[in-house]
Amino acid sequence: MKRTLRRLGPTDLGGRRVLVRVDYNVPLESGEVRDDARIGATLPTLRHLLDAGGRPVLMSHLGRPGGSPDPELSLAPVAVRLEALLERPVRFAGPADSEEALRESRGLETGSLLLLENLRFLPGEKKNDPELARRLARLGDLYVNDAFGACHRKHCSVVGVPAVLHPAVAGLLVEAELGALDRLRSEPDRPFIVIMGGAKIGDKIELMEAFLGRADRILVGGAMANTFLKASGREIGFSLVEDEALVEARRLATKGGDRVELPIDLVVAASPDDGDRAHVVDPDSIPSDAMALDIGPDTRDAYAMALAGAATVFWNGPMGLFENSAFAAGTRAVARAVAEACDAGAFAVVGGGDSARAVREAGLADRLSHVSTGGGAALEYLATGSLPGVEALDDAP
Ligand code: 3PG
Repeated sequence: MKRTLRRLGPTDLGGRRVLVRVDYNVPLESGEVRDDARIGATLPTLRHLLDAGGRPVLMSHLGRPGGSPDPELSLAPVAVRLEALLERPVRFAGPADSEEALRESRGLETGSLLLLENLRFLPGEKKNDPELARRLARLGDLYVNDAFGACHRKHCSVVGVPAVLHPAVAGLLVEAELGALDRLRSEPDRPFIVIMGGAKIGDKIELMEAFLGRADRILVGGAMANTFLKASGREIGFSLVEDEALVEARRLATKGGDRVELPIDLVVAASPDDGDRAHVVDPDSIPSDAMALDIGPDTRDAYAMALAGAATVFWNGPMGLFENSAFAAGTRAVARAVAEACDAGAFAVVGGGDSARAVREAGLADRLSHVSTGGGAALEYLATGSLPGVEALDDAP
């Protein structure tokens, strides 16, 4: 058990500078935040700190700038959005390890927040440089990790700073995320149904292995299904496939037997731009000049029926190329079926950037038990039961 923000008293927080690692790695468009879900998810922690008289100093990464400044990846637009969401002044300073940032943190007034410039502009962040950890640690009197989406990274702000700044505790978002995922890890109510999609089977083999020991059914869709179909000897035309994962896919399918379910029909087209000429085929007759881009209507019905009887659900990864409306029906149908399962009393968690986005875009997020803000972090925690950023925090007294 790790120490949490909830366990700190007002004397731990009042008047103190609280260095909070957040995950504001959000999509930007024309210099504005396009999706602020990750910012919104940290508001409970920030309000908790402000109500207790704490002075939050926030740090985050954005994108993958490679250790040097990139104006396109500045966190300045995030400061603007955070100010609007919180209705409190948000100051902005950079570079995060500079004397200016230190001065700003010391001068921060109660009721205001400070957001530091993108940590990944600094070469020491990804290398977990101990000197950078010391410089960042000067910016706070205690450390809170509320960056669930980055907890699988052994980076300086995630594991280096909590090694030198104490107390180092989990924020409310991290606590909620771990609580939801723990319900899937230990004795989930049955039937427990897992839906796996998205492109990268290679990243998800360990997770699928873990679920084979726990889930009653694993429903596979998206490009991941193509790899399974090819592994079972089907011709899959030009479909996106991960050839290096074929052996693993074959092994998992054999081990899972009937519990691993593949699409019984598919929406195919000559290319992602050829939505007008999309049509439905069964998995044994994918044309050699076409690619699978969504699950078909019979698969949608079969998966929805399976979900209707679920007591516990975990969903990661879209069922097709859902950004394109011609190939979005499968992902939308699964999102609806998961929401309906929740209405009927199931406990359902969606993890992964794309599936979480699909659920939000369909306006269904409020009906689900938990929509995780972390993709890779959620998968790693489910597969292994630990995350470097959580391990780095103080143990509960
Ligand atoms: C994410 O979006 O998954 C997290 O913010 C981590 O980002 P990264 O994969 O660039 O480390």
